[in-house]
Order: sequence, then C-alpha cells, then structure tokens
Amino acid sequence: MKLIRNPNQIQDLSLKLKSKGKRIGLVPTMGYLHAGHLSLVRRAVKECDVAVVSIYVNPLQFGPREDFKRYPRNLKQDMLLAKTAGADYVFAPGDTDMYRGEFLTTVGVDKISSILCGTSRPGHFTGVTTVVTKLFNIVLPDISYFGQKDAQQAVIIKKMVRDLNVPVAIKVLPTVREPDGLAMSSRNAYLNRSQRQDALILYKALGRARCLIRQGERNPRKIISVIKRLIQRVDSARIDYIDIVDAADLSSKKKITGKVLVVLAVFIGKFRLIDNIALRV
Ligand code: PAJ
Repeated sequence: MKLIRNPNQIQDLSLKLKSKGKRIGLVPTMGYLHAGHLSLVRRAVKECDVAVVSIYVNPLQFGPREDFKRYPRNLKQDMLLAKTAGADYVFAPGDTDMYRGEFLTTVGVDKISSILCGTSRPGHFTGVTTVVTKLFNIVLPDISYFGQKDAQQAVIIKKMVRDLNVPVAIKVLPTVREPDGLAMSSRNAYLNRSQRQDALILYKALGRARCLIRQGERNPRKIISVIKRLIQRVDSARIDYIDIVDAADLSSKKKITGKVLVVLAVFIGKFRLIDNIALRV
C-alpha cells in the first residue's frame, strides 16, 4: 500500500490506471479509521481493481465553533488499518494541497442541505459536497462508497451526482455498530466512560421507534413524542432533532408508509452524535 499526498500525483496515476481499463474505488474519509470505515474499504477492494482511501479532515465542512482543531487524527494507525483492509493507496493531502490561495468555488445542493443536520450546522453540507467533488475530480473513481450512518450526507451526494451528471456510481453500505449498538464514529473518542454509556440512548430510542412501527403505529408524531421522552430521561442528553423522513428525499412523513428513515441528533454533554435506522413499511 502506498501513501500519496499530492493531488496531481494521484490524478496522474488514476488517469494511467483508467487508460489500462482498471476500475477505481474511492472511500472518502476524515480518518481516525474504525470498523465502519473499513467495511467500506473492504467492499471497494472486493468490487474494484484499485481501492483508494482518502483521509482528509476537511476544514470547509466545520463551523467556526465546531471541532475542526480537536478532531482526532492518527495517520500512522490509519495507514496500518487501511493496509490490513486491503487498500492499494491512501490519499492524504495537506490543507494547503486542497484549498490553495483564495478559494472561490463551492458545490451546493439546495433544500436537502439545510434541513436536519443542516439546520444546526449551516454550510456543513456545502463543505462536504465541495470536498467530495474535488476528491472525485482528483481520484477519478468509478465507484465511491459511503455509510448509511450519515444518511443525509449519502442522500445529498447521490442527488449531487445525479443533478450534475458526475460519472461515479455511489454505493451506500449499512451502519457498523459496537457490540452494544452504538454506531461507530470517530467522534466516539471524545466520550468519557459515563457519556459513552449515556450515548446508548440513541440506539435504544431507534429500537423503540422500530418496535412501535412494527406494532402498527403509523403516526410519526406519536413515535417521536415517545422517543423524545425516553431520551429526556438521560441527564446528559439534549435533543437536537428527531424526525421520520422519506428515505429517498428526506421529506418529513405525515404518515409512515414506504421506505422511511428514523433520524436523530442528540448532544451527549457537548458532543453531538447522530444515528438513524431505515425501515420499509
Ligand atoms: P467520516 O465521518 O470519516 O466518514 C467517512 C465515511 O464512513 C462516510 O461515508 C460515513 O458515512 C462512513 N461511516 C462512518 N461511520 C460509519 C459506520 N459506523 N458504519 C458505516 N459507515 C460509516 O463522512 C465523512 O467522513 C466526511 O463528511 C467526508 C464524506 C469524508 C467528506 O469530508
């Protein structure tokens, strides 16, 4: 496995590989890799001739009061993990490699970027779609892999690719969880022991929602109010949002039918965690 830092270098390499008919798979990440990321890498290895993992903590997707500076980083460990998962290249550009001088261009997806996580993180998804576009243009993948853990991000990226005729297939893979149900996330590293325990409430709340829907409840308001009360019983928890939305376009459901997502964002202490489940009714 090889580490490449320079965007021009990996773009040249990708052009050469493509001219030989090789299929390139890209897994965009911000590093501090865990089993969720590695499930995407393994799938890329399986389905493509060359698997590239990008590792870049993208400043453009963090708000001024967010955790860009303290976001966990460990390139050495990430390299080992990516290699074990079978990756061929890690592309880890430096900040100055990605945004040179005065950077004036962004790629944004209207409407669905300003709801749910976009409400409390204005500009976040434009940061994501801009960096993902750059990564696509640099690495030139045939297929790119994303996690259902960030359901809104996946819907937005699919929409961007469709709207702009980007020649990349997007695959979304299931959320990988800790044995007790907590969705894996690089940000889980922030939690102390009691917060880690409290964080389980996200998974429990989603489990309760699933149960109610399976029992026949079709009114989103009723389900949301039950899980709201459940979460409020945890002292350190503060709800950012809970919603039940259409899985394809993220619109709020008035009645639960078709493929839906139960989505939530909850602060545990000062750390904001997100999770979701998909259900077909
Ligand atoms: P990051 O949070 O590092 O996640 C990289 C990819 O791993 C995303 O597609 C995310 O959905 C997926 N992922 C994270 N946790 C997962 C889990 N528990 N199970 C399955 N997949 C999981 O998402 C980003 O980085 C950035 O926004 C990025 C797309 C790289 C743009 O900067």
